[in-house]
Parts: sequence; C-alpha cells; structure tokens
Amino acid sequence: MAGLHDEILELKRQRNAAVVAHYYQTPDVKAVADFVGDSLAMAQWAQLCTADVLVVAGVRFMAETAAVLVPNVTVLSPDPDATCSLAEGCPADAFSKFVEQHPNHVVVTYVNSSVEVKALSDITCTSSNAVRVINSLPMDKEIIFAPDRNMGKWLQKITGRNLVLWDAVCEVHDAFSIDQVRGLKAANPTARIIAHPECTPELLKIANFIGSTSALLNYVSKESSGTYIVVTEEGILKEMRQAAPYAKLIPAPTDEPTTCACGVCPYMKMITLEKIKSSLETLTHKIVIPEHLRERAALPIIKMMTL
Ligand code: 13P
Ligand code: SF4
Repeated sequence: MAGLHDEILELKRQRNAAVVAHYYQTPDVKAVADFVGDSLAMAQWAQLCTADVLVVAGVRFMAETAAVLVPNVTVLSPDPDATCSLAEGCPADAFSKFVEQHPNHVVVTYVNSSVEVKALSDITCTSSNAVRVINSLPMDKEIIFAPDRNMGKWLQKITGRNLVLWDAVCEVHDAFSIDQVRGLKAANPTARIIAHPECTPELLKIANFIGSTSALLNYVSKESSGTYIVVTEEGILKEMRQAAPYAKLIPAPTDEPTTCACGVCPYMKMITLEKIKSSLETLTHKIVIPEHLRERAALPIIKMMTL
C-alpha cells in the first residue's frame, strides 16, 4: 500500500493535481487527499482549488458539483459508476414533470442529486445548511424539496414549513435498524444516539442529536469522554476516534447484519487507491458537462454558497 500511496503523491506532483475526499472514504484513500470533509466543505474547498487537475474521491454528484464550480480545472472521478441512491432515485425527466405540476413553488434540491436535477432547481442545500436554506425563503412561498424524503420530513418538523416532497431515500441511512438501536441504548443507558438526517423519522425521533456528518463529528469532539451510538456511515468513525480518543463509539447496525455490521455506503467504497492512481495516470474519467447545463446548475449551487 505504501507503494501505491507514494506513487499517487508523485503523480499528483507531476500533474499539479489535488485530491478532495469525503469522510466516508476508506482511511487509505483519505491519506492521499489534500482535503477531507463533508459534501459542503468539499465543494467550498474545490471552489478555491488552484490545481490543474482535481480528483474527487467521493460519489459522482460530488465530482459534478466540483466540475460546475471550477470549469477551468480538469475534474476527475476515479469511478463514474460510484453513484448515490438519492441521485438515482430522482431522474431529471420525471422531476421536470413534478416541478411543472407544482407551479410557483421554490425548488430546493439536496446536493445528492444529478447536475440535470440541479439545473431544474432554485437553490441547493447540503445536510449542514438545509435548515438555513429553508428558513431563508419567504414565508408565503410554497416549496418543493427533493430528493430525500426522510430529510424532507425532518426539515418540515424543524422549520415548521409545509414541503412538497420527492420520494427517494439514502439506501444506507434508511436501513439502520430502530430495534437494534433501541437494544444498544438499553445495553448502554448513558449513550447518546446521534444520527444523520437521512435516517428514517422513527429513528430520528429517538435520537439525542441530529446533524450533518461534520455536525456529528463536532458534537462528539465537544464532549470527548461520552458514549455515542453513531447512526451514520461508518467512514466518519475514523475522524471521531481521532477527535475524541476517550469516547466510546458504537456503530449502529442495519437490519442486515449478515452482509455488514454497520452502515457502509457501497458507492463511496467503490473509490480505491488503484482507481485514483489510474485516474491520475490516464486523466480519466473526466467530468464533462455541457456549458449551458453547467451555467444553469451553477445558479442554485452558488446561491447556496453565498447564503
Ligand atoms: P454530508 O452532507 O453530511 O457530507 O452527507 C453526504 C452524504 O452523502 C450523506 O450520506
Ligand atoms: Fe448517497 Fe447514502 Fe451513499 Fe450518501 S451514504 S452517497 S446519500 S447512498
């Protein structure tokens, strides 16, 4: 592995390339990254990128967002098939009809969506700024929120706004088992349940704290000797362990303990060191977005970034 790691660092130097990675990537991938963060922080970092080439170690929509924001940089996805069940669950043609059926609605789209869906939107949001985005909209405006049904229901509760929801879910966060989380809580009565807003409403109801990947990390690092039942993708546990070495971190199980003991995003894990190396050697797979589509999709993303 040290060989691959060093080869990637050398290729980065030769290509004047940078690597930006999501928290859900494996530790070896995060070790070659220039920046590791949640989806909003990745986009903010990409926006300031001065490299010639940017490899996005994350799922496809993250690479697309970077390509929209920095059109003069060659943005590469090590595996363009690394998708996201939320983006796949909201095809642009069907979403376009949905928007037409709800005239005069403001269209708020979670960044976990395709570039084509973003181009049909008024403003995007991530899990770390979704509440702020909804609260920024005038009270008399009706709102469509897509594509995450679970996050939409949570936002309705938090903001008190009535949202017209698209019906897709994150297949990882939607699968956490409420019974198993209740069992863990019974066995660890002082533990706090911390959950990502992509989880089901039933699970969020029993959570002590709900927040984006970064918000969950901050929460654990502020009280670093506590016990936490962590209801999100397991990749973040590495940063949590670093930030809070004395905390007891219990990964929440899904209903399918035979295939995996805790939430693992199969798409995030499609990115490997081998694929990053190949990406840098061959300058593939380039994210190419037609200029008219890029310009339209940039509007809601930049609106979010300037909020
Ligand atoms: P964050 O916005 O918290 O990084 O979440 C992205 C994601 O894909 C969660 O499943
Ligand atoms: Fe998409 Fe869920 Fe994977 Fe995040 S964890 S990239 S929302 S499938």
